[in-house]
Amino acid sequence: MATFDLILRNGTCVLPWGQEVADVGVRNGKIAAIGDLRGADAAELVDCSHLHVLPGLIDAHVHLRDPGDATVETIPTGTKAAILGGITGVFDMPNTAPSITTREKIDWKRDYVRDNTYCDIGFYVGAARSNIAELGELEAEKNVCAIKVFAGSSTGDLMIEDDESLERVMRSGRRRIAYHSEDEYRLQARKPMFTKGMPHANHAEWRDVECALLGTRRLMALARETGRPAHILHVSTAEELDYLKDFRDVATVEVLVNHLTQWGPDAYERLGGYAVMNPPIRDKRHYEAAWAAVADGTVDVIGSDHAPHSRANKEKPWPDCSAGLTGVQTIVPMMLTQVNAGRLSLSRLADLMAAGPARVYGAVGKGRLAAGYDADFTLVDMKKSRTIEESWIVSPCGWTPFAGETCTAWPVGTIVRGHIVMRDDEVIGGPKGAPINFA
Ligand code: DOR
Repeated sequence: MATFDLILRNGTCVLPWGQEVADVGVRNGKIAAIGDLRGADAAELVDCSHLHVLPGLIDAHVHLRDPGDATVETIPTGTKAAILGGITGVFDMPNTAPSITTREKIDWKRDYVRDNTYCDIGFYVGAARSNIAELGELEAEKNVCAIKVFAGSSTGDLMIEDDESLERVMRSGRRRIAYHSEDEYRLQARKPMFTKGMPHANHAEWRDVECALLGTRRLMALARETGRPAHILHVSTAEELDYLKDFRDVATVEVLVNHLTQWGPDAYERLGGYAVMNPPIRDKRHYEAAWAAVADGTVDVIGSDHAPHSRANKEKPWPDCSAGLTGVQTIVPMMLTQVNAGRLSLSRLADLMAAGPARVYGAVGKGRLAAGYDADFTLVDMKKSRTIEESWIVSPCGWTPFAGETCTAWPVGTIVRGHIVMRDDEVIGGPKGAPINFA
């Protein structure tokens, strides 16, 4: 009789080739079999009869603030939030305090996460003026998912805004680079047009469409010239989504859950500073364009850009309020609700949050519900309705821009390399996550 460590029994499995009701057998942290395993034995059995079994969903864009301000977020709290929300892996941004820009800091982080991460984790390395010459070596470090370039200013002190330096960054190595694309010169030039205390909706006027498009145009010109692949993070405008269709040879595209579920001026009127992020939430035309780009395949990855800040900093008047919104705990229920609303299929969601991140960043053994891959699963109940409440949020900052949203589906289990780490809202055991390897 075949024996497994774990069998997921009778779930509707979201396989790369379609949905099938099947059993999934796990051995030594890997998917060992998919099919009819009624004759097999297992140490642990999970009845998935009324559930969908998705490949472990990845949030490829989180800011866990570690090292930094532990009253806002840490790697243990942010990854606990992740597993409670059905996420099995996160890629963590480098704009911490201090930033992750050297081999020593990457080594520190790898060491630190060993006993402190609840889900698997990859590390971005930040591009800074001081480390351009070393970026080729830094991107080859174990567990680094990509170089992150802030080509426009946001939270933290990482920024490389001029073409000459950006070209040097692109010529430094080979792997795909992830960009925050807003044109810093236009951003600074427009700043004096706005005064303190103006309505929050001005955030999208200051950081306007041209600011984003100009930034992306400049990056695409340089990417073509140098042949260096680019991943444009949080694309927020109809214009860029249209433009990027002609750059599939060098560019992949991320869109955020926020830009797919919120729009201005409504979000600013309801949420004030809790709607302020970079690049901004824009009007409905861009929201519709984001969905069209999900539908036609322009979008490769959906992320949350989970970016915690203290309530005090979010509640300062615009433009002094911090930019960034929490989301790692809420992205899965919010996106599942969009599936039930008919905006995308469950298979497309798995493509955008599992296969997509694995392909774009080259995550080894991730993103695919198939034999031999890591036994990472997100178990979801497509009929479980639940309202997001701030009391559920485990990030110490304690807030979500999605409070009060009623979701029509919910993640009810998170499995990381065969370990059941969350079941029905309960975290099971201590941190069992590990650093992710990249090709
Ligand atoms: O709104 C944002 N917040 N956008 C970013 O690019 C950075 C992030 C943060 O770290 O706060």
